Amino acid sequence: MPIPPLALRGDVVTFSGNPFEQPPESCLVHVRDALVVARDGVLTHVAPYDARDVPADATVHIAPGLIGAGFIDAHVHYPQLGVTGSYGEQLLTWLERYVFPAEAAFADRAHADHVADAFLSQLIAAGTTTACVYCTVHPESVDAFFTHAEALGALMIAGKVLMDRNAPDALRDTAQGGYDESKALISRWHGRGRLRYAVTPRFAPTSTQAQLDMAGALLREHDGLYMQTHIAENTAEIDWVRSLFPDRRDYLDVYGHAGLIGPRSVLGHGIYLGTDELDRCHEAQCGVAHCPSSNLFLGSGTFDLFGAMRRPRPVRCGLGSDVGAGTSLSALRTLGDGYKVAQALGQRLHAVQGFWLATAGNARALHLDHRIGTVAVGMDADLCVLDPGATPLLALRTGGARDLTDVLFALMSLGDERCVRETYIAGRRVHEHRPAN
Ligand code: GUN
Ligand code: ZN
Repeated sequence: MPIPPLALRGDVVTFSGNPFEQPPESCLVHVRDALVVARDGVLTHVAPYDARDVPADATVHIAPGLIGAGFIDAHVHYPQLGVTGSYGEQLLTWLERYVFPAEAAFADRAHADHVADAFLSQLIAAGTTTACVYCTVHPESVDAFFTHAEALGALMIAGKVLMDRNAPDALRDTAQGGYDESKALISRWHGRGRLRYAVTPRFAPTSTQAQLDMAGALLREHDGLYMQTHIAENTAEIDWVRSLFPDRRDYLDVYGHAGLIGPRSVLGHGIYLGTDELDRCHEAQCGVAHCPSSNLFLGSGTFDLFGAMRRPRPVRCGLGSDVGAGTSLSALRTLGDGYKVAQALGQRLHAVQGFWLATAGNARALHLDHRIGTVAVGMDADLCVLDPGATPLLALRTGGARDLTDVLFALMSLGDERCVRETYIAGRRVHEHRPAN
């Protein structure tokens, strides 16, 4: 039986340009009372509503809010869901005290299945339809994640963490073992439907030179792979990297020297990247995931987003929740933290910049902007419907809003999962939230 097309009617909010390079308001696209049609997972019509445009085999569904592209999370750890909000440590001791014990449990496939399922349910409930996801060192954790992502039909990027030193026995692989396991996972999952594999050395301190080199070999041996890792997040971490790799020019060079930096490399945090490193990120066209919630929670520092994006050689920055160091899977909450971090640096994160970053900007950082991140004909039909009056506070606040930008700003300051009324993946509704009243 052919699947009938999706026909959604409502206001569409999307973007036509980069609001860090052009006046933000000029990048905002607002199609009032639009008809959005998707067939076979792709948007085939986005225009002001006209009954004659409704396909004969479709039933029009009225969207209970603003229709936007699904959010994208450029940096998140699904196995850390259960240790989100753990007290009292900064990065390195937080990893030892909370994260490594939690990740050890993913040797058990049943546990991995349970958490992967919970994570993806919570992710789509937050309106996020694509994410760059760290699994654990166990191949089972990757199989579990991709199995559940495939069932959703989602475009997901994920990989097995590589760690062959400075980690507990139960979480260490070897350079050769990590290479072999990654290779088997790549052949099983990379390019299967909408799934993509990311070679995932956790960060420089937990990999030997041999392991980083073998990660580079994997990237050379397969087309279209991603690479994700952490960089320059915390000052103690940076000192440690300098002592472990004394011959490298800086942190980025540790990865660059191993052949790990290219257009589909996604670097988490980057708070302390220097001018020269940012220039090389620009040249390489890699993505840097700004993780404001995590950076505040772990006391890591304040990433200068505007300094990275507004320079002669701009860096492709995105936005990541970094759960479980970040405290919410909601892009709205992450943006609220991003606004506060910018304020602390004397900068203003405009609502259009914020929403662009969480959708089209992230798509651009991941070199996926031809498929996801905007609502337009030919794009994948990954959507979320946001209700600007979802909570009593938001209803009060947006009831008196000046314009759409003000509504978006209220959503990113006061909103969370409760605002996400519906989520669509490849044109199929995968989440629906009916407020109680
Ligand atoms: N650096 C290395 N591993 C991690 C991690 O799991 N989370 C964060 N925030 N930083 C890291
Ligand atoms: Zn992280």
